[in-house]
Amino acid sequence: MDIKALRNEYKKGKLKDDSVYENPVKQFEKWFEQALSSEIQDANAMSFATATIDGKPSVRTVLLKEFDENGFVFFTNYGSRKGKEIADNPIGAILFFWKELERQVRIEGKIEKTSSGESDAYFDSRTLESRISAFVSPQSQAIPDRKYLEDRWSGYIKSADTVGISRPENWGGYRLLPDRFEFWQGRANRLHDRILYIKSNGTWNISRLAP
Ligand SMILES: Cc1cc2nc3c(=O)[nH]c(=O)nc-3n(C[C@H](O)[C@H](O)[C@H](O)COP(=O)(O)O)c2cc1C
Repeated sequence: MDIKALRNEYKKGKLKDDSVYENPVKQFEKWFEQALSSEIQDANAMSFATATIDGKPSVRTVLLKEFDENGFVFFTNYGSRKGKEIADNPIGAILFFWKELERQVRIEGKIEKTSSGESDAYFDSRTLESRISAFVSPQSQAIPDRKYLEDRWSGYIKSADTVGISRPENWGGYRLLPDRFEFWQGRANRLHDRILYIKSNGTWNISRLAP
């Protein structure tokens, strides 16, 4: 296997200075819509990085469920590894890699919990099966075996009082409030386009980075 020989030329697009929006959320919206319409599977899947207070990073995939000027939202278990890291060190980084479009987006900022109303509304929109899974899975903790999980799940689904099941306290949303975005478009000869947005005093400053 010769991994060093794996090589792609990127030719699908360009990111011109005069074609990007002044507002990075608008720029993200444009690229996200293009990702959705190019039928990328799980276009809303993003790598989400956190770190311990002493700077040890960790990263995992989560699904973006909402974004707007207020931030980027996903849902999870607050007692998970990521939840503990966010509690101690509430900053994070998001990465989207849409390889079919030869594009990458990086987003960084502070993290806060969504309101309980927002978390309730999303929880209630999930199927009964998914809601029960949120209850029975102590996310990121060691469990004896798979049967342990399946038995807990079957026990819950059989019990009549799961109808109208409400959100467990340790489950809900996080919102990342961006202060930095970078949009990367692959180009020929490794001369890629990189457009950086940094928020300072409420204003987005735009620059181009060397690839
Ligand atoms: C495509 C995909 C989507 C996922 N979406 C979520 C999600 O939205 N929320 C979540 O808690 N975990 C999601 N996961 C599982 C996480 O990657 C991870 O295993 C879990 O959140 C535990 O991470 P932690 O131990 O770092 O807290 C997803 C995994 C994949 C591969």
